Amino acid sequence: MKKVHVKAGGSRDYDVTIGRGVLDRCGELLSPLFGGGKIAVITDTNVAPLYLERLKCSLMRAGYEVCSFAFPAGEQSKNLSTLSDILEFLAESKLSRTDAIVALGGGVVGDISGFAAGCYLRGIKYAQLPTTLLAFVDSAVGGKTAVDLRAGKNLAGLFYPPVAVIADPGCLSTLPGEILADGAAESVKTGVLSGEELFSLVEQGKIMENAERIIELCIDYKAKIVALDEFESGPRRLLNLGHTVGHAIELLSGYSISHGCAVSAGIAIITRAAARLGICCYADCKRIIAALKACSLPTETHFRAPELAEAALSDKKRSGSKITIILPRTIGNCELVEIATSELCGIIEKGLCPLEE
Ligand SMILES: NC(=O)c1ccc[n+]([C@@H]2O[C@H](COP(=O)([O-])OP(=O)(O)OC[C@H]3O[C@@H](n4cnc5c(N)ncnc54)[C@H](O)[C@@H]3O)[C@@H](O)[C@H]2O)c1
Ligand SMILES: [Zn+2]
Repeated sequence: MKKVHVKAGGSRDYDVTIGRGVLDRCGELLSPLFGGGKIAVITDTNVAPLYLERLKCSLMRAGYEVCSFAFPAGEQSKNLSTLSDILEFLAESKLSRTDAIVALGGGVVGDISGFAAGCYLRGIKYAQLPTTLLAFVDSAVGGKTAVDLRAGKNLAGLFYPPVAVIADPGCLSTLPGEILADGAAESVKTGVLSGEELFSLVEQGKIMENAERIIELCIDYKAKIVALDEFESGPRRLLNLGHTVGHAIELLSGYSISHGCAVSAGIAIITRAAARLGICCYADCKRIIAALKACSLPTETHFRAPELAEAALSDKKRSGSKITIILPRTIGNCELVEIATSELCGIIEKGLCPLEE
């Protein structure tokens, strides 16, 4: 069992506990943090039949009264209507300010449960129990919560850190391959950002075999970045490597291309562009693209530069005539570069042509 401390400011700091079997020890791990009382487990309809019973048993062994709410699995549930159902459920279950929530599931469950915890009775405690690779390596740590609005993804939410993250890599054994790939793309991203130790693991492509160590190193890196910049006004924006073009690919595909596959192509495109601009050395660029391929992830897209740039710039969260992109220099050294929006299309264009061998 390994612990990573996340600094979220004073009494809001929390630990991530990582280890096989910790799901069955949630009760004992959470009771010093939650105190006694009631726990509402929020999950989805895929995860509930797999892990809810084990979690409930562990919580009840520690003396908790447990209730649970499972909403239909998938991003289409990450909306105000499900949030409202969760809040009504918490009220009907008579959760008080001293009770708590446990989010059991992937990024969708984590994001919406964190939001519910942040606004129910003006904020009650919650813990994250991630069950997808993406949630382990990215969404469970950092305190960002959200739901989607009709105008776009993640447009309503809070920065509201959990009191604990309990990560049991054993949960990955039931994960379908295409969902594992989404997390693999974020793991390669973190490898490019953080450096050789993690990158040399992910470039082997054996994500499941090395899952525990990959998760530890990704969480270590994310914890460091969040401690530097909790509210994403500075270096935390590095975590968006590959995401400007990735979001554009997702949008243009009508979300038929998954986030991970879109981000993978986005990383490849921006890295090739950085190489052509003389910012990234060719050897590292080739290694990054090879790592994505080793994880069976795409490194190209059939969309063209003008439509990608237009889609990227249509993002509702962006404003003004400038945009910040993330360019790799070397593995372990990426930089935030502010460019004029009019330059984006040309940069994407450079990243679309394959590299000469
Ligand atoms: N808060 C953040 O910092 C942050 C960061 C990155 C992504 N996100 C959000 O995360 C979401 C994507 O996360 P996700 O990919 O985990 O999606 P998800 O929660 O929808 O999970 C993907 C699918 O896997 C199923 N599943 C979950 N765990 C399983 C398991 N162990 N075995 C079998 N099936 C399982 C789910 O039911 C779902 O169908 C997006 O909404 C995104 O916006 C948030
Ligand atoms: Zn992402």
